Amino acid sequence: MAGIYRIEIMHGVNLNMLGRRDPEHYGTLTLMQLEQHISQFASELDIEVRFLQTNAESEFVEHLQGLSDLADGLVLNPGAWTHYSWAIRDALEIAALPAVEVHLSDVKAREEWRRFSVVEELCLASICGKGVEGYREALAVLRAELESMREDASS
Ligand code: DQA
Repeated sequence: MAGIYRIEIMHGVNLNMLGRRDPEHYGTLTLMQLEQHISQFASELDIEVRFLQTNAESEFVEHLQGLSDLADGLVLNPGAWTHYSWAIRDALEIAALPAVEVHLSDVKAREEWRRFSVVEELCLASICGKGVEGYREALAVLRAELESMREDASS
Protein backbone atom coordinates (compact mmCIF):
# COMPACT_ATOMS: atom_id res chain seq x y z
CA MET A 1 0.00 0.00 0.00
CA ALA A 2 1.27 3.47 -0.83
CA GLY A 3 2.30 5.50 2.22
CA ILE A 4 0.30 8.50 3.33
CA TYR A 5 3.23 10.88 2.99
CA ARG A 6 5.62 11.19 0.04
CA ILE A 7 9.21 11.84 1.08
CA GLU A 8 12.07 12.43 -1.34
CA ILE A 9 15.49 11.12 -0.25
CA MET A 10 18.20 13.15 -1.95
CA HIS A 11 21.86 12.14 -1.89
CA GLY A 12 24.51 14.39 -3.36
CA VAL A 13 28.03 14.22 -4.53
CA ASN A 14 30.15 11.09 -3.83
CA LEU A 15 27.41 9.27 -1.95
CA ASN A 16 27.23 6.77 -4.82
CA MET A 17 30.66 5.66 -3.58
CA LEU A 18 29.44 4.45 -0.18
CA GLY A 19 30.93 1.05 0.55
CA ARG A 20 34.25 2.31 -0.83
CA ARG A 21 34.62 5.37 1.41
CA ASP A 22 36.28 5.51 4.82
CA PRO A 23 34.26 3.01 6.90
CA GLU A 24 35.22 4.82 10.10
CA HIS A 25 33.08 7.77 9.00
CA TYR A 26 30.61 6.28 6.58
CA GLY A 27 30.18 2.63 7.57
CA THR A 28 30.29 -0.23 5.11
CA LEU A 29 26.88 -0.13 3.45
CA THR A 30 26.65 0.64 -0.25
CA LEU A 31 24.17 3.32 -1.35
CA MET A 32 21.82 0.60 -2.57
CA GLN A 33 21.93 -1.13 0.83
CA LEU A 34 21.43 2.20 2.60
CA GLU A 35 18.39 2.88 0.42
CA GLN A 36 17.00 -0.57 1.25
CA HIS A 37 17.21 0.24 4.96
CA ILE A 38 15.54 3.60 4.37
CA SER A 39 12.72 1.90 2.43
CA GLN A 40 12.20 -0.44 5.38
CA PHE A 41 12.08 2.45 7.88
CA ALA A 42 9.66 4.27 5.58
CA SER A 43 7.27 1.35 5.28
CA GLU A 44 7.22 1.02 9.09
CA LEU A 45 6.15 4.68 9.26
CA ASP A 46 3.66 4.39 6.38
CA ILE A 47 5.75 6.73 4.25
CA GLU A 48 6.36 6.45 0.52
CA VAL A 49 9.95 7.23 -0.47
CA ARG A 50 11.64 8.07 -3.75
CA PHE A 51 15.40 8.31 -4.16
CA LEU A 52 17.78 10.52 -6.09
CA GLN A 53 21.56 10.46 -6.07
CA THR A 54 23.59 12.66 -8.37
CA ASN A 55 27.10 14.01 -8.67
CA ALA A 56 25.87 16.94 -10.76
CA GLU A 57 25.04 20.01 -8.69
CA SER A 58 22.77 21.32 -11.47
CA GLU A 59 20.70 18.13 -11.38
CA PHE A 60 20.36 18.35 -7.61
CA VAL A 61 19.24 21.99 -7.90
CA GLU A 62 16.77 21.27 -10.72
CA HIS A 63 15.32 18.36 -8.79
CA LEU A 64 14.71 20.65 -5.81
CA GLN A 65 13.14 23.27 -8.09
CA GLY A 66 10.50 20.79 -9.27
CA LEU A 67 9.87 19.01 -6.00
CA SER A 68 7.02 20.92 -4.42
CA ASP A 69 4.35 19.19 -6.56
CA LEU A 70 5.88 15.75 -6.22
CA ALA A 71 6.68 15.36 -2.52
CA ASP A 72 5.39 16.34 0.91
CA GLY A 73 8.87 16.62 2.41
CA LEU A 74 12.46 15.64 1.93
CA VAL A 75 15.54 14.20 3.56
CA LEU A 76 18.76 15.50 2.08
CA ASN A 77 22.37 14.57 2.42
CA PRO A 78 24.13 16.83 -0.06
CA GLY A 79 27.61 15.44 0.74
CA ALA A 80 30.37 18.05 0.42
CA TRP A 81 27.96 20.52 -1.23
CA THR A 82 26.49 20.94 2.27
CA HIS A 83 29.43 23.06 3.24
CA TYR A 84 29.54 25.57 0.38
CA SER A 85 26.74 25.34 -2.19
CA TRP A 86 24.63 28.46 -1.79
CA ALA A 87 22.85 27.38 -5.00
CA ILE A 88 21.54 24.30 -3.20
CA ARG A 89 20.52 26.41 -0.22
CA ASP A 90 18.50 28.72 -2.49
CA ALA A 91 16.91 25.80 -4.36
CA LEU A 92 15.88 24.25 -1.04
CA GLU A 93 14.23 27.53 -0.10
CA ILE A 94 12.37 27.50 -3.44
CA ALA A 95 11.20 23.91 -2.80
CA ALA A 96 9.54 25.25 0.36
CA LEU A 97 8.98 21.78 1.82
CA PRO A 98 9.66 20.45 5.30
CA ALA A 99 13.22 19.14 5.15
CA VAL A 100 15.65 17.28 7.38
CA GLU A 101 19.40 17.22 6.79
CA VAL A 102 21.24 13.96 7.46
CA HIS A 103 24.94 13.13 7.50
CA LEU A 104 26.23 9.64 8.13
CA SER A 105 29.33 10.98 9.84
CA ASP A 106 29.56 13.41 12.72
CA VAL A 107 30.37 16.49 10.63
CA LYS A 108 30.44 18.71 13.72
CA ALA A 109 33.34 16.72 15.14
CA ARG A 110 35.47 16.46 12.00
CA GLU A 111 37.50 19.03 10.04
CA GLU A 112 36.62 22.69 10.56
CA TRP A 113 35.29 23.09 6.99
CA ARG A 114 32.68 20.38 7.54
CA ARG A 115 31.13 22.09 10.56
CA PHE A 116 29.19 24.67 8.59
CA SER A 117 26.06 23.74 6.64
CA VAL A 118 24.39 26.03 4.12
CA VAL A 119 21.07 24.19 4.50
CA GLU A 120 20.86 23.83 8.29
CA GLU A 121 18.86 27.04 8.85
CA LEU A 122 16.17 25.80 6.42
CA CYS A 123 15.83 22.35 7.96
CA LEU A 124 13.59 21.12 10.78
CA ALA A 125 16.52 19.11 12.11
CA SER A 126 20.11 18.29 11.25
CA ILE A 127 21.05 14.76 12.20
CA CYS A 128 24.67 13.68 11.99
CA GLY A 129 26.93 10.91 13.16
CA LYS A 130 24.19 8.32 13.56
CA GLY A 131 24.83 6.40 10.34
CA VAL A 132 21.82 4.69 8.80
CA GLU A 133 19.76 5.26 11.97
CA GLY A 134 19.89 8.98 11.24
CA TYR A 135 17.55 8.40 8.31
CA ARG A 136 15.00 6.63 10.51
CA GLU A 137 15.08 9.60 12.86
CA ALA A 138 14.72 12.02 9.94
CA LEU A 139 11.65 10.21 8.61
CA ALA A 140 10.09 10.24 12.09
CA VAL A 141 10.71 14.01 12.43
CA LEU A 142 9.13 14.64 9.04
CA ARG A 143 6.16 12.40 9.78
CA ALA A 144 5.45 14.25 13.03
CA GLU A 145 5.70 17.60 11.24
CA LEU A 146 3.40 16.52 8.40
CA GLU A 147 0.88 15.14 10.91
CA SER A 148 0.78 18.42 12.79
CA MET A 149 0.47 20.40 9.52
CA ARG A 150 -2.46 18.19 8.56
CA GLU A 151 -4.12 18.70 11.95
CA ASP A 152 -3.66 22.49 11.70
CA ALA A 153 -5.15 22.49 8.18
CA SER A 154 -8.22 20.56 9.31
CA SER A 155 -8.93 22.63 12.44
C1 DQA B 1 28.62 13.56 4.50
C2 DQA B 1 29.61 14.50 5.20
C3 DQA B 1 30.27 15.46 4.22
O1 DQA B 1 31.16 16.31 4.90
C4 DQA B 1 31.03 14.68 3.17
O2 DQA B 1 31.59 15.56 2.23
C5 DQA B 1 30.22 13.62 2.53
C6 DQA B 1 29.28 12.84 3.33
C7 DQA B 1 28.07 12.50 5.48
O3 DQA B 1 27.08 11.85 5.13
O4 DQA B 1 28.65 12.30 6.55
O5 DQA B 1 30.39 13.34 1.34
O6 DQA B 1 27.53 14.32 4.02
